[in-house]
Amino acid sequence: MSGEIPEGLIKPEFERRYRELLGDEYELLLSFMAKKPIPSIRINPMKVEPEWLVDKLSEEGWELERIPWYDYGCRVIRGPERLGNTPWHQLGLYYVQEAASMIPPVVLRPEPGLKILDLAASPGSKATQIAEMMSFKGLLIANDVNPARVDALAANVQRMGSLNVVVTISDGRRAPQKFGYNVFDKVILDAPCSSLGEVRRSWGALARWSPKSVNKISKLQVSLAKAAYQTLKPGGLMVYSTCTLEPKENEWVVYNLVRMGAIIEKPEIRGLKWRPGLEGWMNWEFGKEMKRTMRVYPQDNDTLGFYVALLKKPT
Ligand SMILES: C[S@@+](CC[C@H](N)C(=O)[O-])C[C@H]1O[C@@H](n2cnc3c(N)ncnc32)[C@H](O)[C@@H]1O
Repeated sequence: MSGEIPEGLIKPEFERRYRELLGDEYELLLSFMAKKPIPSIRINPMKVEPEWLVDKLSEEGWELERIPWYDYGCRVIRGPERLGNTPWHQLGLYYVQEAASMIPPVVLRPEPGLKILDLAASPGSKATQIAEMMSFKGLLIANDVNPARVDALAANVQRMGSLNVVVTISDGRRAPQKFGYNVFDKVILDAPCSSLGEVRRSWGALARWSPKSVNKISKLQVSLAKAAYQTLKPGGLMVYSTCTLEPKENEWVVYNLVRMGAIIEKPEIRGLKWRPGLEGWMNWEFGKEMKRTMRVYPQDNDTLGFYVALLKKPT
């Protein structure tokens, strides 16, 4: 999938909204949406010495380039076979994960010994990354509602050897009833979304896009985000992330958490170009503090598009 986005796939309302959002950069966004994403891997430092694996893969003809914002992330410029086919992959020495998808765990800063909830975790890219960042110490609950996707999550947790992960199946909207109120040191909600940031992978998200579908998923995101926030301890940190660019699925959801008392913190991340979140959009006012949330457009770092917000629950 590369080249021009087929005519008719972009709806007039989409063009109107995104031209308003991006101005002259709209065409640049489209050109990146039409470009195949660069594959990348996340090395599992709990199973292998990262330098050893990089040397081994290089010897076998892989050309890797370090990802600046995550120590164990590498882009794969070229390689002799499919990344999922190698014995190193089967052994869980690395996980095939897009570079922008590594951002939310870095912003969350999981530490060993903490109690963390990943409320929408399947297939486990971020959950297994978080477990590795915790050095497999402490507890990570990796939850998802979809049984088939939970199978993939459990398989990835097992392959990566993530010893401190407990996999659960439940509707995240009932998270406080299931896991308790004010219990987790950190929570991540990598929400189901309209996936506009993933158009580089598949143009399906463009075909499915409509204001109505965005509004529908936004309602689910607000319910999930409120439930996730309720499980967080006072003083705890929560990351809300999506792989979409839609304000109704991003700033609007965070605005709802701010109304519950959440404080937006400025994320710390190195080597990543990002834009401040929107203070307002169409007839909505989200507030000035939204500038501390991160919009990552595909053209900024040659990745998928992402939105990431870091929130603190006051003590
Ligand atoms: C963007 S994906 C998560 C990707 C995952 N965090 C990762 O990095 O591999 C969103 C997930 O939300 C799950 N989901 C949708 N509705 C949910 C709900 N009500 N409760 C919990 N999970 C839900 C979907 O099954 C899907 O796996």
